[in-house]
Amino acid sequence: MIIGKTDLGEFPVLLAPLEDITDSAFRNICRMHGADMVYTEFVSSEALVRSAVKSSNKMLFDNTERPVGIQIFGNNADAMKNAAILAAENNPELIDINFGCPVRKVAMKGAGAALLQNIPLMVAITGEVVKAVSLPVTVKTRIGWDENSKVIVDVAERLQDVGIQAITIHGRTRAQMYAGVADWTLIGEVKNNPRMKKPVIGNGDIDSGPKALEMFSQFGVDAIMIGRAAIGNPWIFNDIKTFLQNRRINPLPDLSERVSVCLTHLNLAIEKKGEYKGIIEMRKHYAGYFKGLPGFKKVRMDILTQKSYIEIKNILNILISGNSFGNH
Ligand SMILES: Cc1cc2nc3c(=O)[nH]c(=O)nc-3n(C[C@H](O)[C@H](O)[C@H](O)COP(=O)(O)O)c2cc1C
Repeated sequence: MIIGKTDLGEFPVLLAPLEDITDSAFRNICRMHGADMVYTEFVSSEALVRSAVKSSNKMLFDNTERPVGIQIFGNNADAMKNAAILAAENNPELIDINFGCPVRKVAMKGAGAALLQNIPLMVAITGEVVKAVSLPVTVKTRIGWDENSKVIVDVAERLQDVGIQAITIHGRTRAQMYAGVADWTLIGEVKNNPRMKKPVIGNGDIDSGPKALEMFSQFGVDAIMIGRAAIGNPWIFNDIKTFLQNRRINPLPDLSERVSVCLTHLNLAIEKKGEYKGIIEMRKHYAGYFKGLPGFKKVRMDILTQKSYIEIKNILNILISGNSFGNH
């Protein structure tokens, strides 16, 4: 799949944008484990044009994360255009527009998935953003607002007409939020629409190599994007690639590998946000890294009270040496 000047190879596996999860530290970790492209958390265009520091910081990334997309959201064409110009100053590989976020604080303000109820505005915003920057612009959205308005086949074409270079589709409606299972049929219809020339990236519920293979072969998408299944499990990218290449299932990472990657992640978080904030932000990742490890709940409680890297490292190292719970 090629987007603009970026060649992502065949069957690329991308890390989805995830608010409060896919910060620079986690994006680096996922790139180290085979993610072919990563995206920032979504950034509010309104906040960016107000020069909110927190939002500008969300657009920062390391060269080691490339290829990277900066994702912006909003419902005002002017603000989105200006936000895109600000995002472009960081020179990412692409700028992605979020038209899929279902959460109240975004959709009830007319942004994110709410634009699926106002297609003319969605198309207008996209056209303005495309004209404002020389970088490729892509869109991430859902199949429709609700069961009665699954408009994605038409919408994808209209967005292509105003210049998007790829579209990512999460196979749920806004009304579904994250419930039920993703319906990939419409993603396949977009891909098979003979008028659709730009790459289609499929997203929703992929959590293993076999599932990834099924989606690539059944729906013919150009790439897949992984969200929740990567949390605490950055190995998923290489797992999927191994399976796609030679139908092999990689062994699960052992405890020392988990600890090592978790500590690298913690180190990066501290490097980027300072020890206090890095340690707090890392808290949401431990359960994922040590999922299924007997007795980890108690260890986690212990980690959550620690305030320094060294203390957390010691607790995790005791875990490996078996003094606490033994290897698994
Ligand atoms: C905690 C969380 C945060 C998310 N934040 C964003 C976001 O900032 N931008 C976006 O486009 N989608 C966001 N999403 C949606 C995901 O990118 C993805 O489309 C969705 O989780 C479905 O993919 P999955 O089944 O692989 O998780 C978020 C999802 C979750 C669970």
